[in-house]
Amino acid sequence: MRLPIRVPVTLVIASFLGSAPRAQDCVECHTEVTPGIVRDWEVSAHAAEDVGCEMCHGEDHQSADDTELVTTVTARSCKLCHRERYNEFETSKHALAWDAMKAMPTTHWKPMELIDGMKGCGGCHKIGLKSNEEIARLKEAGSGYGFASCDSCHTRHTFSVAEAREPEACATCHMGFDHPQWEMYSTSKHGVRHTLKRAGVLPESALAPTCQTCHMPGGNHDVHTAWGFLAVRTDGLAPYPGEDETWWADRVTILQALGVLDPDGRPTARLKVVAEAQVARLTAEEFDVQRERMVAVCSECHSSKFALGELAKGDGMIREADRLLAEAIRIVSGLYADGLLEKPASYAYAFPDLLAFHDSPTPIENRLFLMHLKHRMRAFQGVFHNNPDYALWYGWNEMQLDLTEIRAMAKELRRDKAETR
Ligand code: HEC
Ligand code: HEC
Ligand code: HEC
Ligand code: HEC
Ligand code: HEC
Ligand code: HEC
Ligand code: HEC
Ligand code: HEC
Repeated sequence: MRLPIRVPVTLVIASFLGSAPRAQDCVECHTEVTPGIVRDWEVSAHAAEDVGCEMCHGEDHQSADDTELVTTVTARSCKLCHRERYNEFETSKHALAWDAMKAMPTTHWKPMELIDGMKGCGGCHKIGLKSNEEIARLKEAGSGYGFASCDSCHTRHTFSVAEAREPEACATCHMGFDHPQWEMYSTSKHGVRHTLKRAGVLPESALAPTCQTCHMPGGNHDVHTAWGFLAVRTDGLAPYPGEDETWWADRVTILQALGVLDPDGRPTARLKVVAEAQVARLTAEEFDVQRERMVAVCSECHSSKFALGELAKGDGMIREADRLLAEAIRIVSGLYADGLLEKPASYAYAFPDLLAFHDSPTPIENRLFLMHLKHRMRAFQGVFHNNPDYALWYGWNEMQLDLTEIRAMAKELRRDKAETR
C-alpha cells in the first residue's frame, strides 16, 4: 500500500473503527517482555509507517493473563494492506504447498512434530495457505504457530524486502535431499558471480541472476515453473506436441507408478488430487506459458537462441532420466505381477506407488524410490540450474547405479524363487 502522503496507517484505520490506537501500550510492555521483537519491529518499514503490533495481532490481549486473545496472523492479515502481493501469492505454487503435502498418501503416518508441528515436511510446506478450518484444526492439535505464509521470505518482525531479495531467503527450504537448488545455484556460475559481486570483486553493475531474478521476475509473487517438481507433463493425457513415442511410453509408466493412471492406462481418482494441487502439468498451454516467461528472463542477459537451446537440454535430460526410471518401474511391477515380491496392501495396483515413497518396505523398492525422488530430481534440476556436478555425479550417474542394482536384485529374487520350487 502506498499512501499519497505520510499519514500514520494506525490513525487511518483507527478513524474508521472510531477507537484510539493502543500501539504505545503494546510496545511499552513488550519492551520488557520481548525486547528483541520490539527492536526488530523498530527498524522495519512498518514501524516507520506506524503499522503497530495491534495491526497484526489485534487489541484484545492486554496483559500476561490473556495471551489467548491474541489474533492469529495469517497471509490474509497482510492482504488488508498488500492486496496485490497477496493476490499474486494466492495463485502461486507456494500457496498450494500445504495442500500438496497433505495429499501424499503416507503423510499422516508420521510423528505429529514433523507435519502439524512444522518440524519436517510441515517446516517447509507451511509456506502454503491454510483455510480457517485448517488453522482451527492445527491449533486443536497443539501446533500453535506458523500460519502466516508471507513470513517464509520476509521473516518477522523486520519484514524486510531486502532480505527477501537475496537467494538465502529460499535456502532453508530449497536445499538438500530431493530439491538441492540452493547447493546447485550457489556453486553454478550464476551463483558464484553473485557471491563475488557481493564481496566487491565484481562491480555492483555486473550481471548475476538470483533465484528471484528467474523465478519472481518483476517481483511477481506468482511463482511457477513449466515442469514443476515431479517433471511430468501431458496434453490432456496425450503426449505433449512433438514428443517422441518412446518418451511418451516411459511417461505413461511413470504416471502409472504415480497412481494417476491405472495399469490399463485409464485415469484414476488420484488424478483429481494431482490436478488440484498442480502436481503435474496437464495441458500444453500450462507448460508453454511458463516456458515463455522463463525464456524472457534469460533473454535479458543472453540471446534467446542461447536460452532456448539451454532449456531444451533440460527437457532432454528429463527424457533420458525417464528412460532409466521407466525400466526400473517395469522391473518392480513385474515382480509384483509374478508374485515374487509382495505388493504392500495399501497399493491399489500391482505397481510401485512412488508417492508412498518414504515407507518402501524392501531394499529393491527403496532403491526405486531413491532413484525417482533423489537422483532423477538431481539429474534434471542440475541441468536447469547449470550445475555439472549435480547433473552428472549426484544425478545421472547415481540413476545408472540404481538401475544396475535393481536389475541385479530382481534377478536374485527370480533365482531364489526358482530354487525353492
Ligand atoms: C501489560 C503487558 C502487556 C501488554 C500491554 C501487551 N502485552 Fe502482549 N504479552 C505480554 C506477555 C507477558 C506475553 C506472554 C509472553 C511469554 O509467553 O513469554 C505476551 C504475549 C504476546 C504475544 C504472543 C502470544 C503467543 O501466543 O505467543 C503477542 C503476539 C502479543 N503479546 C502482542 C501484543 C499486542 C499486539 C499488544 C497490544 C495490543 C500487547 N501484546 C500488549 C504482555 C503484554
Ligand atoms: C506485520 C504484521 C506484524 C506486526 C506489525 C507485528 N507482528 Fe508479531 N507476529 C507476526 C507474525 C506473522 C507472527 C508469527 C505468527 C505465527 O506464526 O502464528 C508474529 C508472532 C509474534 C509473537 C510470537 C512468536 C514469537 O516469536 O515469540 C510475538 C510475541 C509477537 N509477534 C509480538 C509482536 C509485537 C510486540 C509487535 C509490535 C512491536 C508485533 N508482534 C508486531 C506479525 C506481526
Ligand atoms: C495496516 C497495514 C499493513 C499490514 C496489516 C501489513 N503491512 Fe506491510 N507494509 C505496510 C506499509 C504502510 C508499508 C510501507 C510502504 C510499502 O513498502 O508498501 C509496508 C511495507 C512492507 C514490506 C516492505 C518492507 C521494506 O523493507 O521495504 C513488506 C515486505 C511487508 N510490508 C510485508 C508485510 C507482511 C508479510 C504482512 C503480514 C504479516 C504485512 N506487511 C502487513 C502496511 C501493512
Ligand atoms: C518455507 C519454505 C520455502 C521458502 C522459504 C521458499 N520456498 Fe519455494 N517452495 C516451497 C515448497 C514447499 C514448494 C512446493 C510447493 C507445493 O508443494 O505446491 C516450493 C515450490 C517452489 C517452486 C516450484 C514451482 C513449481 O512450478 O512447482 C519454485 C520455482 C520456488 N519454490 C521458488 C522459490 C524461491 C525463488 C524462493 C525464495 C525467494 C522460495 N521458493 C522460497 C517452499 C519454500
Ligand atoms: C538463471 C535462472 C535460474 C536461477 C538463478 C535459478 N533457477 Fe530455478 N529454475 C530455472 C529453470 C530454467 C528451471 C526449469 C524451468 C522449467 O521447468 O522449464 C528451474 C526450476 C526450478 C524449480 C522447479 C524444479 C526444478 O527443476 O528444480 C525450483 C523449485 C527452482 N528452480 C528453485 C530455484 C531456487 C530456490 C533458486 C536459487 C537457489 C533457483 N531456482 C535459481 C532457472 C533458474
Ligand atoms: C518466496 C518468497 C516470498 C514470499 C513467500 C513472499 N514474498 Fe513478498 N517479496 C519477495 C521478494 C523477492 C520481493 C522483492 C520483489 C522485488 O524485487 O521488487 C518481495 C516484495 C514484497 C513487498 C515489497 C513492496 C512491493 O510491493 O514490491 C511486499 C509488501 C511484499 N513482498 C509482501 C508480501 C506478502 C503480503 C506476502 C504473502 C502474501 C509475501 N510478500 C510473500 C519474496 C516473497
Ligand atoms: C527442506 C524442506 C522440505 C521438506 C522437509 C519437505 N519438503 Fe516437500 N517440497 C519442498 C520443496 C522446496 C518442494 C518443491 C521442489 C521443486 O519444485 O523442485 C517440495 C515439493 C513437494 C511435493 C510436490 C509438490 C508439487 O506439486 O510439485 C510434495 C507432494 C511434497 N513436497 C511433499 C512433502 C512431504 C510429504 C514431506 C515430508 C515427508 C516433504 N514434502 C518434506 C520442501 C520440503
Ligand atoms: C541477470 C543476467 C542473467 C540471466 C537472467 C541469466 N543469465 Fe545465464 N549467465 C549470466 C552470466 C553473467 C553468466 C556468466 C558469464 C558467461 O558464462 O557468459 C551466465 C552464464 C550462463 C551459462 C554458462 C554457465 C557455465 O558454466 O559456463 C549458462 C548455460 C546460462 N547462463 C544459462 C542461462 C539460462 C538458461 C538462463 C535463463 C533460465 C539464464 N542463464 C539467465 C547472466 C544471466
